[in-house]
Amino acid sequence: MRLRACCVYSLGLLCILLLVAGIAMVLSQVFQKLLNNMIKKQMVLENGTEAFSVWQNPPPPVYMQFYFFNLTNPAEVLNGDKPSVIEIGPYTYREYRPKEDVRFMDNGTRVQAVNPKTYVFQPDMSRGSEDDLVRTVNIPAVTVMEKFKDSFFSRFISDLMKAKDVGVFATHRVGDLLWGYEDPLLKELSVFVPDDHFGLFYKKNGTDDGDYVFLTGRQNYQDFARIDEWNGQRSLNWWSSDECNMINGTDGASFHPIVTKTEKLYIFSSDLCRSLYALYESDVNVRGVPGFRFVPPSAVFANVTVNPDNAGFCVPQGNCLGSGLLNASVCKEGAPIIMSSPHFYQADDKFVQDVFGMNPKKEDHETLIDINPLTGLLLRGAKRVQVNVYTRQIPAFSQTGSIRTLVFPVMFLNESVVIDEESAVKLQAVLTEANVLLNVPFIVISAGVLLGLAFIVLMCCQQRPEASAAERQPLLSS
Ligand SMILES: *[C@@H]1O[C@H](CO)[C@@H](O)[C@H](O)[C@H]1NC(C)=O
Ligand SMILES: *[C@@H]1O[C@H](CO)[C@@H](O)[C@H](O)[C@H]1NC(C)=O
Ligand SMILES: *[C@@H]1O[C@H](CO)[C@@H](O)[C@H](O)[C@H]1NC(C)=O
Ligand SMILES: *[C@@H]1O[C@H](CO)[C@@H](O)[C@H](O)[C@H]1NC(C)=O
Ligand SMILES: *[C@@H]1O[C@H](CO)[C@@H](O)[C@H](O)[C@H]1NC(C)=O
Ligand SMILES: *[C@@H]1O[C@H](CO)[C@@H](O)[C@H](O)[C@H]1NC(C)=O
Ligand SMILES: *[C@@H]1O[C@H](CO)[C@@H](O)[C@H](O)[C@H]1NC(C)=O
Ligand SMILES: *[C@@H]1O[C@H](CO)[C@@H](O)[C@H](O)[C@H]1NC(C)=O
Repeated sequence: MRLRACCVYSLGLLCILLLVAGIAMVLSQVFQKLLNNMIKKQMVLENGTEAFSVWQNPPPPVYMQFYFFNLTNPAEVLNGDKPSVIEIGPYTYREYRPKEDVRFMDNGTRVQAVNPKTYVFQPDMSRGSEDDLVRTVNIPAVTVMEKFKDSFFSRFISDLMKAKDVGVFATHRVGDLLWGYEDPLLKELSVFVPDDHFGLFYKKNGTDDGDYVFLTGRQNYQDFARIDEWNGQRSLNWWSSDECNMINGTDGASFHPIVTKTEKLYIFSSDLCRSLYALYESDVNVRGVPGFRFVPPSAVFANVTVNPDNAGFCVPQGNCLGSGLLNASVCKEGAPIIMSSPHFYQADDKFVQDVFGMNPKKEDHETLIDINPLTGLLLRGAKRVQVNVYTRQIPAFSQTGSIRTLVFPVMFLNESVVIDEESAVKLQAVLTEANVLLNVPFIVISAGVLLGLAFIVLMCCQQRPEASAAERQPLLSS
């Protein structure tokens, strides 16, 4: 009897111990902290580690998809009518973007690299070919007219344009518009211009956009793969009209681990002419992996009345264009280029109404980032940007006719990536292990509860056969 009683009481004691330990673990978040430390240790760029090789050669395929706006009524537009455009595309390219010339610096706290991008056409993911023709604004001609509108040469250039039959609109191959062609007008004016070729991505294939210095995360995991310098400039959240870049954030492929819903994520982009920030929007699931979706809030695009912080984007100073537009002229060698979201999504409705064929849609036209919060790994990303040209009547050039003052849409792009199946499976395994670890306190508490139940049952069983008080006495006195 004694031994049995002893067992029962030990059981009770163990139950209390497990419950106390379990609750203490929950309250102290010891396993959460252990897991965070494990993740933080992994997230450092160091030769030979998995994080390094993924950073150097990101496995998921990145696709760049271009959509053009084909103008249907050029003559009417020159007579002052509203332009009518038809969206064509996508013209899809696979984008290869390895980090090259990688050099560790400062005891492994920083790493230098270049990030050349190579684009390879994907016919099976495209609608149409690079030989498709697009009729749109003749960007070199409009640029030349804007540049020389008040100049002594305007008459000469206007005559030259007439002789060469160059106007506000022109038709070109998709491949040429993107990767460059010899422009007849620029060729004539080669004494004034640095290059007689024009293309929206001219000289962008296989070239890098300068030297980057990244933080490795060795000093602080929050700095994992963050851009510290670009072309020798310190990374601050600044915007320089000379360099057309605002640097803050990462290279877009990885974020620091343990992302919270209240965070502001910075997206760096040298071709966007500015950096964007994004805020938590919703929970998502990408290939079975849970994630947080971050999107740029409309305040990022709002006009100065709504968001005075955007005054820095009004160039020249005080010259604000309205919600959703960014004057990128200084970044594009003086071409009157204006960036926006595709179809003027989140821009003033005026710009949507100015052109037949605009149809802004949140799901198709917003920029988004889906991140696994625990590891900070990118699950899905889509950067969507539209290139527009500012067109207006220029008295010195009769070629402009009675064209309206317009923000004329030329093309938009969707640069997107989705985690590859293999990485997703690996990540799921990691997250399952993490879940097991995080559930240890609850397993302990459950064990405690089970033992508690067993204890109660045993106590009750013990009472029944020992009905007489005489038999119970020794038990109580022991
Ligand atoms: C990484 O280590 C390998 C083998 O030790 C070496 O060949 C390579 O140059 C190193 N890479 C860097 C960036 O230091
Ligand atoms: C690198 O580490 C050594 C030894 O720990 C230290 O003396 C040196 O100051 C460090 N250099 C830098 C740039 O941090
Ligand atoms: C870019 O360069 C690569 C390799 O040099 C080539 O295979 C590819 O076709 C080029 N892409 C374009 C659009 O010219
Ligand atoms: C774009 O419009 C031009 C002129 O009407 C036409 O020749 C061309 O085929 C159109 N392009 C596509 C891809 O439909
Ligand atoms: C730039 O990024 C760093 C690190 O993410 C952040 O601490 C800083 O606040 C950002 N700058 C601004 C102006 O938000
Ligand atoms: C700024 O945007 C708001 C809301 O879209 C609009 O009501 C206001 O008229 C705009 N202000 C200017 C100066 O465009
Ligand atoms: C865009 O910026 C350029 C250079 O700062 C300026 O000359 C031009 O007038 C601006 N365009 C518009 C439409 O405000
Ligand atoms: C990119 O965005 C366009 C619309 O903007 C959409 O039609 C297309 O499917 C997207 N591409 C990918 C790979 O998600």
